[in-house]
Amino acid sequence: MEMNVGIPEESRAAVSEGLSRVLADTYALYLKTQNFHWNVRGPEFYSLHLLFEKQYQTLAEAVDEIAERIRALGNFVEASFTAFAITSTIKGEEKVLQAKEMLTSLVHGHETCIRGARKVAEIADRDGDFATVDMLGRMLGSHEKMAWFLRSQI
Ligand SMILES: [Fe+2]
Repeated sequence: MEMNVGIPEESRAAVSEGLSRVLADTYALYLKTQNFHWNVRGPEFYSLHLLFEKQYQTLAEAVDEIAERIRALGNFVEASFTAFAITSTIKGEEKVLQAKEMLTSLVHGHETCIRGARKVAEIADRDGDFATVDMLGRMLGSHEKMAWFLRSQI
């Protein structure tokens, strides 16, 4: 069925394409945060183990919301490890890091998501897609808060 929500098809496609990059970065950061939840060591083990758990749960919810927004815009979601690995600019860690390196790596990941989400929000705003602007605005705040929690422990 044709969509007639007042956002042209080209705009919905452009926003969806941007959202697929935000999705891949958020998924990569989700996986990295869960990796660190499992592998963190040191005197701060328990608090970091719990902090990382809380943050990967928040990221899992964000992943779902981004993917469903792409669907609501009338497009399909490319969701495979291969697609995410190609699209994401956040690369996974091959080695087990020290706790402080984990914190730094996650801060950089959140900052990457923040910069990417802001670019897409600007495109969505230009095209009148305020639901996407609203969603990304909330996510920017959430990433900034998570980055603050991480940064404060370095
Ligand atoms: Fe766990």
